[in-house]
Amino acid sequence: MSTKSTLSPVPMTGNLPPRVPDVFNDEYRAAMQVVMAEREPMDWIGVHQFLGFHEDREAGAQFVTRRLPETPNHERLVLAHSTQAILTVLCGSLVGVGGTLAVEELTYPTIAKFAKQSGFALVGVKLDDRGIIPDAFEKVCQERKPQALYTLPTLQNPTTSMMSLARREAIVAIAQKYGVKIFEDDIYSLLPERVAPPLASLAPEITYYMLGTAKSVGAGLKAAYLVTPETSDPARLFWPGSGMTYWMIAPANAGVSTVLIRNGGVDRIISAVREETRARQQMVTNALGGISLRTTPECLHVWMEAPHDRSVLDFVADCKRRGAEVGPAATFLLAGGVAPHYVRFGTGKAHDRAELQRGLEAIAGAYFS
Ligand SMILES: Cc1ncc(COP(=O)(O)O)c(C=O)c1O
Repeated sequence: MSTKSTLSPVPMTGNLPPRVPDVFNDEYRAAMQVVMAEREPMDWIGVHQFLGFHEDREAGAQFVTRRLPETPNHERLVLAHSTQAILTVLCGSLVGVGGTLAVEELTYPTIAKFAKQSGFALVGVKLDDRGIIPDAFEKVCQERKPQALYTLPTLQNPTTSMMSLARREAIVAIAQKYGVKIFEDDIYSLLPERVAPPLASLAPEITYYMLGTAKSVGAGLKAAYLVTPETSDPARLFWPGSGMTYWMIAPANAGVSTVLIRNGGVDRIISAVREETRARQQMVTNALGGISLRTTPECLHVWMEAPHDRSVLDFVADCKRRGAEVGPAATFLLAGGVAPHYVRFGTGKAHDRAELQRGLEAIAGAYFS
């Protein structure tokens, strides 16, 4: 019997929140209507608002309190259309040409493109299941003197590791000791309900804290919030010196996000995404029992060991042939080293549970063949 699927492979290399149309559609439409009714288009769209409207920055300051212990002064806020956009400016301004950025040894692949584009080096820091290993980070600080560390302390991409509070304290203490700035990407932190506080709450004076909405609300909302250490940082780093203007949020997106933050719609969407993510992770447990993998009920992705007797690429190709696209660990290895014998796949991009089930069966089929 042929094992090749006749349907197109289920897209599982990407990492998106699952669709929750019953909640999302009504909340988004209602918020858009409020924006259209309440804002004067000429005052709102007809002018440049480089750092965002006052009320949108205030809403952003309110949004980040889902993670930060207190509401930051809105003048510390930058509104951008994505976490990527924030990172391009931070890396350009604070790492710079010829500089060095420390990253987790396996991390968000786009960072490699920024490094190439902006002419800075990457140095990888070893990880365990609690994230960055403090001794390894200290060694990197001593030997490579990075300007900054880019890190995902919560549900690390791709390994799903979670820094404990003790680990977070150890990492910020080292960064403080060696004068290394922290670019904290907390994009996966809004789905789990119990998570240690961000590094930004432990060391606000050196941490640039990013909370994007792409992984918890919707990838096309195009709204991401940055909290800087000082109120002078947004203007200094983002305008006018950076020379790049494409990071700015579109006013309509900022307005819709503000309404959703104020009326609680954003939390209702996040709750629906959380519930759907839990259901999908339960399907992973049911379909892939007996396989060594790492994830949590509120994580969008899964970090799974490939079969010992095959190369990772051979396993990835077999998954695809049977109907699931998954990503090899090597995709996430940006600064040298040896890629572990793992793959990552996302649970959210499959259009619905039936499609996810088809993808999981393809992975199980490839694994146990
Ligand atoms: C760790 C991490 N940060 C940021 C992003 C992208 O977020 P945005 O669309 O807001 O740039 C991704 C998307 O894959 C990601 O995995």
